[in-house]
Amino acid sequence: MKITNICCIGAGYVGGPTMAIIAQKCPDIKVTVVDLNEDRIAKWNDTDVNNIPIYEPGLSEVVAEARGRNLFFSTEVDKAIDEAQMIFISVNTPTKTYGSGKGMAADLKYIELCARQIARVSKQDKIVVEKSTLPVRTASAIKNILHNTGNGVQFQILSNPEFLAEGTAVEDLLAPDRVLIGGDTTEEGQSAIKSLVDVYSRWVPSERILTTNVWSSELSKLTANAFLAQRVSSINAMSELCEKTGADVSEVAKAIGMDSRIGSKFLKASVGFGGSCFQKDILNLVYIAKTYGLNEVADYWEQVIIMNDHQKRRFSKNIVATLYNTVADKKITFLGWAFKKDTNDTRESAAIYVADDLVFEQAKIAVYDPKVSHKQMLSDLNYLETRTKEENDKFVSSFEDPYEACKEAHAIAVLTEWDEFNEYDWQRIYDSMLKPAFVFDGRNLLDGKKLQAIGFHYQEIGS
Ligand code: NAD
Ligand code: UGA
Repeated sequence: MKITNICCIGAGYVGGPTMAIIAQKCPDIKVTVVDLNEDRIAKWNDTDVNNIPIYEPGLSEVVAEARGRNLFFSTEVDKAIDEAQMIFISVNTPTKTYGSGKGMAADLKYIELCARQIARVSKQDKIVVEKSTLPVRTASAIKNILHNTGNGVQFQILSNPEFLAEGTAVEDLLAPDRVLIGGDTTEEGQSAIKSLVDVYSRWVPSERILTTNVWSSELSKLTANAFLAQRVSSINAMSELCEKTGADVSEVAKAIGMDSRIGSKFLKASVGFGGSCFQKDILNLVYIAKTYGLNEVADYWEQVIIMNDHQKRRFSKNIVATLYNTVADKKITFLGWAFKKDTNDTRESAAIYVADDLVFEQAKIAVYDPKVSHKQMLSDLNYLETRTKEENDKFVSSFEDPYEACKEAHAIAVLTEWDEFNEYDWQRIYDSMLKPAFVFDGRNLLDGKKLQAIGFHYQEIGS
């Protein structure tokens, strides 16, 4: 089937950028991104393209080019489903917060709602593409719902997981390492795979488009995230050993990364990984392994999360210990709140947990982040439900200007690796702070020697 009309359910960090690139590269395909969240859709449609709800370098330019031509954002979900030949499901699949599998399994209620809606609305055969990250074998549940509640039309289900990283979404989508498409081995399944391959082939070289069966595709996505997160936890584990032994984790990372079998990427020690997916996907993997009775497999992967939690906690504990075992009423400035640079996403950011620990010790937290709003910071902390909103309000403030944020602080903690932090006038910051002035660099970002020469007490991870 030649695809001329695509619908994507979910206008989030994946649905929005992914569809924007498909629309840019395939001007003859009408692409409609739908969402129940009216506010989000209104922002995608904002006449000022700089106000789109997701900050990603280069994204507003792509949206400006395609929006209104063949890219549309809408809340009319039924209409978009009805018109499309191919429907991507890009809704959120968070960790369950209730019932069996609470705290581990992926919550598939939004996926099921989409499947039921597609079944109800569809009057012609359609290809349904799982873009969300899903537990292995979810496609069979979707298939059951579609075939048992539908109007007798035929559905093919493909798995096409997304591998983009936030902050580099546009470049990742334009030049992906690979595009993975899983489908049924039947003739109809293979034909559906071909329809999607034809879409990506417009800009992705064919040797980078990999086709597999559905289960391999679903499981490869969880596996890729587990391997990536495991590298971060592995280097973070070594960072603690480096601190005890006089080794320097950056030197160790460089030395091992030059071994082509290990590779140099994803070996940067940090205050701990964040983001909406690593933890959620590993917990899901652990849950799946447990449901098959594979306890050793489950324990192996769970350790990646245990190490990451330890790394975050260790960072805040060290701040308290270094500041003479008390941070009560001390102003501690956070540079960065987002879970990594070049995104406004804060989900599972290490900053949230470090702030929570320090507020527990009654520190006054002053935050500067170039892309995150004060409202978002407070909502992240309130979500933890460790104290009242009023208390969080009292202890956490935010600033538009980094120099104001640092004024009269006892210490600075670097939580996100925004490039601009390196360009600051650090002498001016030092002069405005209380002495002794401390910098705890949770990203090993700043020039420690320069800061020490100014007079800072500078500490980084793993040395
Ligand atoms: P998100 O929360 O940013 O966006 C999901 C959107 O789906 C929300 O706007 C929500 O309102 C909408 N939605 C939920 N149910 C709906 C329904 N029934 N009808 C219409 N809209 C509905 O989530 P995200 O970060 O884009 O992630 C989506 C999926 O992609 C997840 O499974 C995630 O694991 C996966 N993923 C995310 C990334 C990433 O970088 N964020 C990368 C790869 C894969
Ligand atoms: C990650 C994967 O990289 C993507 O391939 C995947 O599609 C995505 O998850 C997903 O499924 O959601 P993302 O979480 O956006 O992407 O960003 P990463 O660059 O992977 O960083 C994740 C976290 O690890 C960040 O907090 C980052 O600061 C941290 N990190 C990363 C380190 O601490 N050290 C490193 O060396 C690399």
